[in-house]
Amino acid sequence: MSQEHESLENLLQENRRFPPSPQFAAQANAKPEIYERAERDRLAFWEEQAGALTWEKKWDAVLDWQPPYAKWFIGGKINASVNALDRHVAQGRGDRVAFYFEGEPGDTQTITYAQLLTEVKKAANALIEIGIKAGDRVAIYMPMIPEAAVAMLACARIGAPHSVVFGGFSADALLSRIQDADAKLVITADGGFRKGAAFALKPAVDEALKGQHNVEKVLVVQRTKQETAWTDRDIWWHDIVGRQSTEHVAESFDSEHPLFILYTSGTTAKPKGIFHTTGGYLTQVAYTHKAVFDLKAESDIFWCTADVGWVTGHSYVVYGPLINGATQVMYEGTPDTPHKGRVFEIIAKYGVTILYTAPTLIRTWMKWGDEFPKAHNLHSLRLLGSVGEPINPEAWMWYRDVIGGNRCPIVDTWWQTETGAIMISPLPGVTATKPGSAMKTIPGISAQVVDENAVPVGNGRGGFLILDKPWPAMLRGIWGEGARYKETYWSRFPGIYFAGDGAKLDDEGAIWLLGRVDDVMNVSGHRISTTEVESALVSHEAVAEAAVVGAADAMTGQGIVAFVILRTGIAHADGVALLTELRNHVAKQIGAIAKPRQILVVNELPKTRSGKIMRRLLKDVAEDRKVGDATTLADPNVMALISQGLKSAKDED
Ligand code: PRX
Repeated sequence: MSQEHESLENLLQENRRFPPSPQFAAQANAKPEIYERAERDRLAFWEEQAGALTWEKKWDAVLDWQPPYAKWFIGGKINASVNALDRHVAQGRGDRVAFYFEGEPGDTQTITYAQLLTEVKKAANALIEIGIKAGDRVAIYMPMIPEAAVAMLACARIGAPHSVVFGGFSADALLSRIQDADAKLVITADGGFRKGAAFALKPAVDEALKGQHNVEKVLVVQRTKQETAWTDRDIWWHDIVGRQSTEHVAESFDSEHPLFILYTSGTTAKPKGIFHTTGGYLTQVAYTHKAVFDLKAESDIFWCTADVGWVTGHSYVVYGPLINGATQVMYEGTPDTPHKGRVFEIIAKYGVTILYTAPTLIRTWMKWGDEFPKAHNLHSLRLLGSVGEPINPEAWMWYRDVIGGNRCPIVDTWWQTETGAIMISPLPGVTATKPGSAMKTIPGISAQVVDENAVPVGNGRGGFLILDKPWPAMLRGIWGEGARYKETYWSRFPGIYFAGDGAKLDDEGAIWLLGRVDDVMNVSGHRISTTEVESALVSHEAVAEAAVVGAADAMTGQGIVAFVILRTGIAHADGVALLTELRNHVAKQIGAIAKPRQILVVNELPKTRSGKIMRRLLKDVAEDRKVGDATTLADPNVMALISQGLKSAKDED
C-alpha cells in the first residue's frame, strides 16, 4: 500500500491529541489571542511584525497587491545584515554566541555576534574590492561552514542577491544556475568534510566554468587544505577577506530589493529561480521563528539541521534566527559520522533546546535503533520541529517519545521555497497537536483545500492546497521568467496560488498534507522533478526513452524509480554495469540526490493514444500495487509486460 493511502487510513483512526502542557503554554511567545488579532486586521498584524525589525525608513503602505504580484512595506528601507547583526551588537549583545560550529572531524568554533559582524563587514569590503555592486548576482557553492552564512550576509549587506547552490549538486547543475542568474562571482571552498573524508568542491566550479558564463572571479574558502587547482580568476578568501577593514557602514535598500534567488525543481527539466525580496521576507521569517519555535533568545540553543543550500537553511539558519538574536548550532557533516549518535552527542554537548529537522532523518534514526539517542542526555530539548515532507504518525510519535521524552511540543511546519517562510504549523503553546498533521495556517496566513473548481471541499474531504491571500515572504517571481511564474503558480486556479500539494481536512478542519499532486518527487525532503531525471537519462547515449516516477519509500518518503527503453543495438545483457552507469550519469547531470533508486529496462512505456506517458500506471508497478485502470492505453498489454519484467528483475536481486 502506498504511503499516501496508508496515511489516509491512519487519519481516519487518529484520535490522539497532544495539548501543550500548562507550563509551556504559560511561557509561550504566542498566546491564543494572536489568531484573533491577525484575523481582525491582517495587514495591521503584519505591520506589527515588521515593526520588530530595524528600518532605516518606515514604509508608506503595507501592501500593494496586483495579482500575481505583491509588494510589501512599500517605500520602506532596510538592510538584512544590519537586522541580523549590527543591531544586536549596537544594543549590547555582541558577546552573545551566534554559532557553535561543529566540524565533522570534531574541530569547533564559537562565534559571537560581534565576531560574526566583523567577518561580514570584512567580507562585504572584499566583495566591493572585487567589483560587486548592488544588484549583481553572486553564486555561493559551499559546504556547511560558518563562511557560508558570512558570504550570504555579506552579499545581503551590499545588496547583491545571492544564489546559493547546494554543495551536493553537480558541475552541470551549478553551471545552469550560474547562467540563469548571470552570476558575476562564485564563492566556494576547496571542499568540506562528509562521511569521514574530505570532498572537493572547487573542481566542480572549475568544471562548470568551462561553459558559457560571465563569472569574473572565484572566491575560495580554505576548509580542507586539500590540493586545489588554481587559475587567474581564483582568489583565496583568507587572502582578500583577511586584509580588509573591519569597518563597513551598511546602506539600506528598498523593501522590495532582491535578497536572493534559490533554484528549485518544478514540473519541467529546467529548475526555477525562485526570487525573494527583502522587507516582507525578513518580517515573516523573523516572526515565524519566534512564534512557531517559541524562541527565547537569551536562553535557547536553536539547531536547524538544514544545509544553507536549501530554503530551510536560508530562513531558519541564516535570516530568521540571526534577526532574532538566537544562539545556534551549525554542524558540517552527516548524522552517522563517526557514529550514529553524532546528532544526539551534539545536542547534549551544547544543550540544544530547539531541534528542527526532517522526517527522513527521524525515520533513519528509528531504523538505527533507540540505543543511539538513549545513550545521550537529551533533557535540554524543549521543542521539536519537522519540515520538508509529510511526517507519518509513527515517526511523529517516535520523535515525541524517544527524542522529546514526551515533554516537547512538536511543530510540523509546512512551507515551500516559494513561500519563503512557514505557512502551516501548530503554535506550540496553543495548539493541541495530532500526530502527522500540520494542523492549521499560522496567524496572518490564509489557505484552503479546494476541488477542481476552486470550491472549498469542507471538513472530512481532500483536495488541492491553495493560498488565497498574499503573504509577506511570498516569492516575487521566477527569475527572468514572468510567463512561467504565472503559468506555474497562478493558472490552475486563475488568480489563486496553487502550491502543488494535495491535502485533506479532517472532521475538525485540521490540515493533513498528502504530498505533491504534480510531477515533482520529494526525496528526503528535497524536490526533484520527474522530467529533470528523465532528461538526464535520455541524454545518455544508451537511452532512447525514459519515464520516472516517485515511489513510496519507507525511509526517504519517495524513491526515484526509472523505466528506460534502450536504443536499438544496445545490449541489455550486461544490464548491471549499464544500470550503474546510468545511475552515475544522472548523478553527474544533477547531483547524487537525484540518483534513481531503481532503473528498469523495458521494451515499451504505457502511453495513451495521444502519446502521453501514463506515469500513474508506472507508479502502481513501482509501488507493487495492482495496476489501475489501463483501458485508455494504446496497447493494453504493455502493463502486463512491464509488471512481468519487474517481477523477474526482483527475482534476480
Ligand atoms: O510538498 C511539500 C513538501 O515540500 C514541498 C516544498 O519543498 P521545498 O520548496 O524544497 O521546501 C522544503 C522546505 C520548506 C512542499 O510543496 N513539504 C514541506 N514541508 C512539509 C511538506 N509536506 C508535508 N508536510 C510538511 N511539513
